[in-house]
Amino acid sequence: MAKATSFTAVILISSIFLAPYFSISEAHSYAPIVSGLSLSFYKSSCPKVESIIRKQLKKVFKDDIGQAAGLLRLHFHDCFVQGCDASVLLDGSASGPSEQDAPPNLTLRAKAFEIINDLRDLVDEECGRVVSCADIVAIAARDSVCLSGGPDYDVPLGRRDGLTFATTNVTLENLPSPSSDASTILASLATKNFDPTDVVALSGGHTIGLSHCPSFTDRLYPTQDPTMDKTFANNLKGICPTANSTNTTVLDIRSPDKFDNKYYVDLMNRQGLFTSDQDLYTDSRTKDIVTSFAINETLFFEKFVQAMIKMGQLGALTGNSGEIRANCSVRNTDNKSYLVSVVEEEQQEQEEAWSEL
Ligand code: HEM
Repeated sequence: MAKATSFTAVILISSIFLAPYFSISEAHSYAPIVSGLSLSFYKSSCPKVESIIRKQLKKVFKDDIGQAAGLLRLHFHDCFVQGCDASVLLDGSASGPSEQDAPPNLTLRAKAFEIINDLRDLVDEECGRVVSCADIVAIAARDSVCLSGGPDYDVPLGRRDGLTFATTNVTLENLPSPSSDASTILASLATKNFDPTDVVALSGGHTIGLSHCPSFTDRLYPTQDPTMDKTFANNLKGICPTANSTNTTVLDIRSPDKFDNKYYVDLMNRQGLFTSDQDLYTDSRTKDIVTSFAINETLFFEKFVQAMIKMGQLGALTGNSGEIRANCSVRNTDNKSYLVSVVEEEQQEQEEAWSEL
């Protein structure tokens, strides 16, 4: 009996001490739904890609954990517009303004674009040009979540980079406004196959990061939104003395830099920053989901991971579509259409030479 008790104690004690180590291998893992994507895509071509990215991001976040929020939002803005094809990274060209120039993207962090380009250079040094910018963005978003205290999960890989960017109108149509109510958000995300649980879980991305005043001052001026907690509203008026103030404030007042479930606690206390957040706790289709995530962080993490993996596969290009960019900000000059034209030109020259003989 005494032996059995001490045996149990050993197991208990060792599980307490070993728990943090076991949790490392407990990453959520789901099979890809898009054919051509795979959890082991770079197994032979670039086996270290994920460890290179994680190591570098640990360094970046040590200096400024705020960058995690910028990278997470970048992946969302990439995937919702034209699919996860890194089109949001492309600079504008003679053909028109880029996605980056569209209003919702003007508040993406310039530093996030730099971080992605730096990561691409590091990966290129190790493996050559084999990993797409779209995959680097997806891995960086996952690491941002995980290194801020959120769940770890396996990212389906094998996305290719797009050759074009979307117009301003298409960008606007696909990124919902923060002043939208829950009905509008639910309808908009339903077109991408997200159900109310996905919508509430994805909105939980607002557990980290910042917002500029103009994104929410419609709730303060000229009249104060009655659904907003009074003290919270007064504090926001202090931060944003005018509707167009250039100041910023945190999205989650309880734990702004930690990826946790406190965002949902904010909503239950009427301290959500955007109408698109707060209305999730008013709408009968989403209210109970908000409560369930506020009281059960494990459930939130599980649903967040499922929704992120779904989001990360939206419109993914695979196989021979698109390209692997040499520079994430510009399309390659040696892509297939260029090659075809060179081949055709050479063929034409040869034919002309033959006909002259
Ligand atoms: C559901 C519709 C959504 C709307 C209307 C929305 C809107 C916004 C707005 C207006 C900002 C602040 C921009 C600024 O003024 O600087 C913001 C920030 C942010 N959003 Fe969303 N968002 C949505 C969904 C998401 C999703 C799905 C994610 C990720 C899973 C996400 C992650 C973030 C993050 C991390 C920030 C902070 C960025 C930073 O600190 O640089 N959002 N969002």
